[in-house]
Amino acid sequence: MQVLVTGGAGFIGANFTLRTLATRDDVQLTVLDKFTYAANPATLEPVSARITVIRGDIGDAALVDRLVADSDLVVNFAAESHNDNSLADPSAFVQTNLVGTYTLLEAVRRHRVRLHHISTDEVYGDLDLDDPARFTEETAYNPSSPYSSTKAGSDLLVRAWVRSFGVEATISNCSNNYGPYQHLEKFIPRQITNVLTGVRPKLYGDGLNVRDWIHVDDHNDAVWTIIERGQLGETYLIGADGEVNNRTVVESILVALGQPADAFDFVTDRAGHDRRYAIDATRLRDELGWTPTYTDFASGLAATIDWYRDNREWWAPHKAGVEADYARTQQILD
Ligand code: NAD
Ligand code: TYD
Repeated sequence: MQVLVTGGAGFIGANFTLRTLATRDDVQLTVLDKFTYAANPATLEPVSARITVIRGDIGDAALVDRLVADSDLVVNFAAESHNDNSLADPSAFVQTNLVGTYTLLEAVRRHRVRLHHISTDEVYGDLDLDDPARFTEETAYNPSSPYSSTKAGSDLLVRAWVRSFGVEATISNCSNNYGPYQHLEKFIPRQITNVLTGVRPKLYGDGLNVRDWIHVDDHNDAVWTIIERGQLGETYLIGADGEVNNRTVVESILVALGQPADAFDFVTDRAGHDRRYAIDATRLRDELGWTPTYTDFASGLAATIDWYRDNREWWAPHKAGVEADYARTQQILD
């Protein structure tokens, strides 16, 4: 099977590529990635002889048409993915998440190629801390940020292309991922590498916002489950019952790295900051038989801390630049 992995040099797409190479011998992989700031070429370098890597944009219709024509399956991970950046400048989010997905849809429609579209639970907005509810496939879309609204729009485009043009597609909406090779701008890698470089972690607002953490390998195993056993045209939520508040995550990182649990600072809250995300993945578990491997967030986090401690060469050259970008973003938002 010839698989086109868009955004395959980013965090989740690269883990998908590495895991697929490690677990399947019936698949040929082509990665299409724009190599924005979010891609680290070092991630796929060790497997470069086993895959085809194309540097290009999912919004480039001619390129996408040619690559899709040669594929049996497209898995779309390509996106602008960071909420803070979307607040400072939404333009790339509209371009990649909306126009890019549209471009892929037109190509899979023309060539009758199966698509799996990767999305986020953030399309559902947020929940109160004391709300017993969790998101399900029936929850109404209610996105808060430029990031989540463009992801919501991309999902709706996929649904419309399924219904109007018979495109063979599935969608998954996953909760917050953690694991190796995640960009330093994201919460967990930012705080681990802060502590490893002697900087105090930064908690937005009161630090009580809750995220529903899932290990990236569990996410990608779920993606393969949906590709193989999911019903065409359907949406599946992916989550591993990993609700934890941000303060607890930071305290765990500090303690694991031998620091006092309170050695962090509270900083100005993110505008429109979603309070809580929580996924009910009953459909994926019951209908498709998927179960997560990393059921204990604390041990998955410990393994991730070890990975960043043991792989400094992957992230250290980028740490100062990421923090400089944060300082610039903050200036725009102030
Ligand atoms: P990431 O930012 O780490 O990687 C995105 C990749 O897409 C990068 O390699 C980047 O170069 C590439 N890219 C960006 N614009 C492109 C374009 N126009 N054409 C081609 N490539 C382009 O993001 P991630 O965390 O790996 O997220 C991947 C997908 O998973 C996204 O769709 C995101 O919305 C979704 N998702 C992420 C999470 C999470 O916790 N990170 C959770 C649920 C869903
Ligand atoms: P993030 O990794 O940006 O993911 P998302 O916004 O998609 O959930 O942030 C996760 C949580 O951590 C979110 O509640 C914001 C918070 N956060 C901080 O408290 N400090 C930080 O430095 C960052 C980057 C995020």
